[in-house]
Amino acid sequence: MNALELIKEDHKRLKKMLEHTLEAEGSTEREAAMDQLRTELVAHERMEEEVFYPRLRDEQKVRDNVLEGLEEHHVADVILDELLDVPPDSDLWKAKVKVLKENVEHHMDEEEDELLKNAKRVLDRDELNRLGERMERIKRDAEDSD
Ligand SMILES: [Fe+2]
Ligand SMILES: [Fe+2]
Repeated sequence: MNALELIKEDHKRLKKMLEHTLEAEGSTEREAAMDQLRTELVAHERMEEEVFYPRLRDEQKVRDNVLEGLEEHHVADVILDELLDVPPDSDLWKAKVKVLKENVEHHMDEEEDELLKNAKRVLDRDELNRLGERMERIKRDAEDSD
């Protein structure tokens, strides 16, 4: 898969996982859903931050999208960290997951509508393929080491 396809495929899966996590009931189900979501979300952020974003951050057309994207990743990371200290059977847990979901969905939509569209103007097919390969490798490593 090229870099753009890989990111979009991942977004689709992450959206489903966010939905599933928010709907999960009881500690066991919620913890299992959150574990999986956390692993996938962190791996996704990593492949973007280590390969895709650095390639684009010096391109005039895309620079602002990259900086904004990094800040949005940061917000998601803060909520993920806070969730480690919140009992999964509490209302607070659900409130935090809801806000995580809204933030990440917004981020992914914006990434697709702005960053990916602008990236397409800057990167040719060969480079998109090469970036995709490197990103897939990083994602796999991140998931395995979790
Ligand atoms: Fe992202
Ligand atoms: Fe993304």
